Amino acid sequence: MTTFWSLYVTVLSLGTIFALTWLLLSTRRGQRAEQTDETVGHSFDGIEEYDNPLPKWWFMLFVATIIFALGYLALYPGLGNWKGLLPGYNYLDNDKQTPFANGQTGWTGVHEWEKEMAKSDAKFGPIFAKFASMPIEDVAKDPQALKMGGRLFASNCSVCHGSDAKGAYGFPNLTDADWRWGGEPATIKETIMKGRHAVMPAWLDILKEQGVSDVAAFVVTNLDGRKLPEGAKADVANGEKLFAANCVACHGPQGKGTPAMGAPDLTHPGAFIYGSSFAQLQQTIRYGRQGQMPAQEQLQGNDKVHLLAAYVYSLSHGDKKAEEQ
Ligand code: HEC
Ligand code: HEC
Repeated sequence: MTTFWSLYVTVLSLGTIFALTWLLLSTRRGQRAEQTDETVGHSFDGIEEYDNPLPKWWFMLFVATIIFALGYLALYPGLGNWKGLLPGYNYLDNDKQTPFANGQTGWTGVHEWEKEMAKSDAKFGPIFAKFASMPIEDVAKDPQALKMGGRLFASNCSVCHGSDAKGAYGFPNLTDADWRWGGEPATIKETIMKGRHAVMPAWLDILKEQGVSDVAAFVVTNLDGRKLPEGAKADVANGEKLFAANCVACHGPQGKGTPAMGAPDLTHPGAFIYGSSFAQLQQTIRYGRQGQMPAQEQLQGNDKVHLLAAYVYSLSHGDKKAEEQ
């Protein structure tokens, strides 16, 4: 913390405490000492108020909180850069007795967290490292690895992909055979490590409203083999032309997708994450989509991502899958 912010915090904290002390004492002064039957004079719906001082025990409670606050701030780090009188809060980097990597010393939540992480890395690191040296397909068959991978998935991935990994609107299902970026073990790991950013351009300006409807109708009927809703005004033949001219570059001539750029397969409803109805397809094509999978390399590191990749791979390739089929 810079000196300015340290002073800012200190002056604000102590100032508030002193101001409250003053308020407490100054309102007590001038009050009578003993209980009386006199009222303050006002009446709310017949309810009146005695003009009595704050009971002594109550007043003392306020005094006690002030003393507690001052004692606390003296003992523990709370006032800007003040390290506290208690030993242990002015510590250096673990046993190395040097400042932390960022040049700081002293207690912070971040340092506590780093210590916890170092402890758990020392405990679990070797197990992660063992799995990290095995091929993903083999890790995906190891019950212990899948248990660990499942836990990592639950805490880091389920917010978006769902606790059953079946996805949700905007988030792909990871348990099926449809892959936007590819389902090879190494590709899955790459996806998780580096993250992905899909870019589906917006077409309204280029194709206009009618063109968007036409090409959406082509996707529904020809690629996907479904029927258009009653009354849909769309020229499928024109849609086919528009598709050939504008979409095949990314989605491929048969609309089967191009994993290298995350352009998905448009040939069956299960593969759509933004909805497969005629209206939803128009919406996607009109305004485009920008799905983003956040990179995990910095957050999890290689060894944990390896386990995660194995876990994800097992969801569509594991023994359970084989039994079901
Ligand atoms: C520059 C490459 C590119 C072009 C050109 C392109 N798309 Fe896409 N499209 C993508 C990508 C990448 C995605 C995935 C977006 C995402 O996951 O957020 C996508 C997604 C979609 C989706 C949504 C699929 C889902 O999962 O819900 C539809 C529908 C679609 N495109 C149709 C079209 C049509 C029709 C055209 C031609 C008018 C077209 N795209 C042209 C790259 C492209
Ligand atoms: C903030 C939400 C979010 C979180 C958290 C997240 N993902 Fe994703 N993930 C996405 C989105 C969105 C996509 C689709 C990107 C696109 O449009 O192509 C995706 C795509 C993927 C894919 C590619 C699927 C395919 O069809 O190719 C994999 C694999 C994946 N995520 C695994 C994970 C794992 C493992 C984790 C946990 C470490 C995770 N994700 C955490 C949002 C998330």
